[in-house]
Amino acid sequence: LDNGLARTPPMGWMQWQRFRCNIDCVNDPHYCVSEKLIMQMADIMVTDGYKDAGYEYVSIDDCWMSKERDPKTNKMQADPVRFPSGIKALANYVHSKGLKLGIYQDMGTKTCKGYPGSQYYVPLDAQTFADWEVDMLKLDCCNTGYDMVSGYSVMGSFLNKTGRPILYACSWPVCMGKNANFKLAAKMCNMWRNAIDITDSWDRVHQIIKIYSNNTQHFAEVAGPGHWNDPDQLIIGDYGLSETQQKVQMGMWAMMASPLFMSVDLRNIDPRAKKLLLNKQVLAINQDPLGKQGMRVWIDTTGTLEYWTRPLMSNGSYAIAILNTSDYGMSRHINCTLKDFKLPSANSYLITDIFGGENLGKFGLSDRIVLQLHPTDMFLATAVPMSFS
Ligand code: DGJ
Repeated sequence: LDNGLARTPPMGWMQWQRFRCNIDCVNDPHYCVSEKLIMQMADIMVTDGYKDAGYEYVSIDDCWMSKERDPKTNKMQADPVRFPSGIKALANYVHSKGLKLGIYQDMGTKTCKGYPGSQYYVPLDAQTFADWEVDMLKLDCCNTGYDMVSGYSVMGSFLNKTGRPILYACSWPVCMGKNANFKLAAKMCNMWRNAIDITDSWDRVHQIIKIYSNNTQHFAEVAGPGHWNDPDQLIIGDYGLSETQQKVQMGMWAMMASPLFMSVDLRNIDPRAKKLLLNKQVLAINQDPLGKQGMRVWIDTTGTLEYWTRPLMSNGSYAIAILNTSDYGMSRHINCTLKDFKLPSANSYLITDIFGGENLGKFGLSDRIVLQLHPTDMFLATAVPMSFS
């Protein structure tokens, strides 16, 4: 979507994966979806360096609303117990921290969790979000009984009419499945979900990567500044991934030029997970201004070892990755050359191992790169051309 936003993949924090629809603030006050939770996350994003690293949006998901619209005005209303100050006040708070506020709605009659949807209220809801000074809308696709895509398009034009820059995150491609027109998604939305929902498990992360891998060309050709494929939230720092698997999610989301929305309890995060989320070199690949999504360039016959290549902005550089999705148990001995990554032949390259933080030296196209990859692990590197003169 050409609205000046999301020139690089959007970054932030999102409620859903970690806090879901926990509305029980009586028994579970520390973990329920409330303005307090959102404010705490905003605070930590500033104090703990996430904002400085580029994480910008704090995004509320489903279950923030009252069960009914305001009977007089038909406006959406925030749950009065959990969001007593209202969304506008929350937006002010988030803005005072130098961050942006994301919110959630659904294009259908109800949200996935049964809260009032936008179906008959698109102009009113678009204006309400703008009046509240919201900066991002994730628009879900549950309970959409009619032509859902035109609904999204109408919402997009009403958001535009408000004059407020609001990042538009769409879900319709995932609801439409194989028939979705991704070119249209790229015109209409700043980012769009196109794969299954993430859960706190390696299995899901793996499945999502597989979808991107199997559709590599199809997905990569529609991504670019202003419009990104969205493989869903990061579960780094949660419970489902081993340390190498967390590296895989971070590294692959960088290769795939994916929006980076952490969904983790930042109040209590493992220091290694935090370090990974703040890894400057990986973030630089993710945020590379050229905005080209990486592609899978090779896969072995067992489908468990793949090579990925992503062109970067600075002249002739690439990010390259080797992904081992096998959980068979044995570490894998890798012996490859830069040719395997389909790099152009003009040059030698300086290879830097990103997770190892190590400069591996100079490699011609046919020089052997030899390394060991653990089960469900990846190698991520930059390749910067060197000229011999
Ligand atoms: C389905 C979406 O894919 C999730 O990310 C989340 O927003 C839930 N709906 C909320 O109900």
